[in-house]
Amino acid sequence: MSTQQKSFSSNLGAIMAAVGSAVGLGNIWRFPYTCGKYGGGAFLIVYVCFVFLIGSVLMMSEFIIGRRAQHTPVKAFSSLRPDKKGWWLIGLLGIVTSFFILAQYLVLSGWTTGYVWESLSGSLAALGTSAAPISDYFTQFSTGSWKPALYLVLFSVLVLIVILGGVQKGIENVSKILMPFLVFLILVLCVRSLTLPGAFKGVEYLFSPDFSKLTGEGILAALGQALFSLSVGMGVMIVYGSYIPLGDNIFKTAMWITVCDTLIAILAGLAIFPAVFSCGFDPAGGPGLVFCVLPNVFNSMGSAGVVFSTIFFLLLMVAALTSAISLLEALTATIGEHTGVRRAVGAFIFFFLGTLLGVIFSLSLGSLSHIKLAGLTLFDFVDKLNSIYLPPLCALGTVIFLGWVMPESDVRDEFSNHGNLGVRFYGMFRFIARYVAPIALLVVFVSGILS
Ligand code: PHE
Repeated sequence: MSTQQKSFSSNLGAIMAAVGSAVGLGNIWRFPYTCGKYGGGAFLIVYVCFVFLIGSVLMMSEFIIGRRAQHTPVKAFSSLRPDKKGWWLIGLLGIVTSFFILAQYLVLSGWTTGYVWESLSGSLAALGTSAAPISDYFTQFSTGSWKPALYLVLFSVLVLIVILGGVQKGIENVSKILMPFLVFLILVLCVRSLTLPGAFKGVEYLFSPDFSKLTGEGILAALGQALFSLSVGMGVMIVYGSYIPLGDNIFKTAMWITVCDTLIAILAGLAIFPAVFSCGFDPAGGPGLVFCVLPNVFNSMGSAGVVFSTIFFLLLMVAALTSAISLLEALTATIGEHTGVRRAVGAFIFFFLGTLLGVIFSLSLGSLSHIKLAGLTLFDFVDKLNSIYLPPLCALGTVIFLGWVMPESDVRDEFSNHGNLGVRFYGMFRFIARYVAPIALLVVFVSGILS
């Protein structure tokens, strides 16, 4: 039998683990270019509103469901209202989403792991400072077969090792070490970037509000980014919620996580854009920013560039690691609860399936690019599924369940720790969960489908 302790050991441990899940590629890579693309400060204002008003409420909702039920998502929904059939489907949707996100996430994390090595070994530095060889190198790397697959597997093994360590000794301890390390790395990069000549242009790009670029699409992107960045709408926070110690204040815990996640996203922008502008480059969107523009920026810093480049990719890898851990944990805990298999067996099953699917997605960018689903490569198809369809739908089901289906006394009880805490924000929380969040999520979901 496993001696697994199914709880975090302290509030700090719970916060660190959840911040580990929340802070990932979404913060360090996706946030900066999305923010730049949709009007800098204008996007930031909308994003911060969404993250605090809707994202944090969703996180609290998932924590409440998980901690109240003391089950993984599928059973959590059915156990909280056994008389209402069918809600377990929302839990299942979350778990399916976690699986697809894990597989796709592994592809990007594999690239990041590869680039730590390419940078340390000097291969990236050897490409010089003209754009074409650097982007050709990335294209060759990412569309190749064995290299991305190898790094992907390497990264997955790291994730598996942590999961095998258990909730406290694995996830919690690793997060307690890696999160401060991540903050340290990002601060080093910020200092370097902000002290470069002409750095201010990058700060301006990130913060000065250009409302003409903030389209309807930008507003939807802000809400999508808020959900993804806080790891909500995929069941992960329901599982982590079930590990939160009973005496912890859920409102405060979720707020801490939201604040940390948002600050790190902003710091990532400050680490990236000032350097990009100072070196006279155009900030590109998508993978290009991190894998083509930044290596060029580092190469133009002379010999110190290798150090900063390695720090950057290491930072990205650490961020991705603790996020992937939370995804594998959600899957492992769920299969364990439903089938009774040992933790190690469950972890291995999803490690294997996730890695396999990840490798297939990776190959779909190269040798399997002829295989199309709805006219898209497998990678683009799953990307669409993971950003537009699954998380908003799962998030919508979650808040409707919490606001309208779950007994109110249970929600209040969990929010106030059985009446031991004040409920100053409870009314606002409930109002957002019942009305504001469902409407906003419905709009995002429907417009995602129509777009
Ligand atoms: N929040 C993570 C990020 O910002 C992504 C993630 C989503 C992780 C869902 C776990 C679950 O990159």
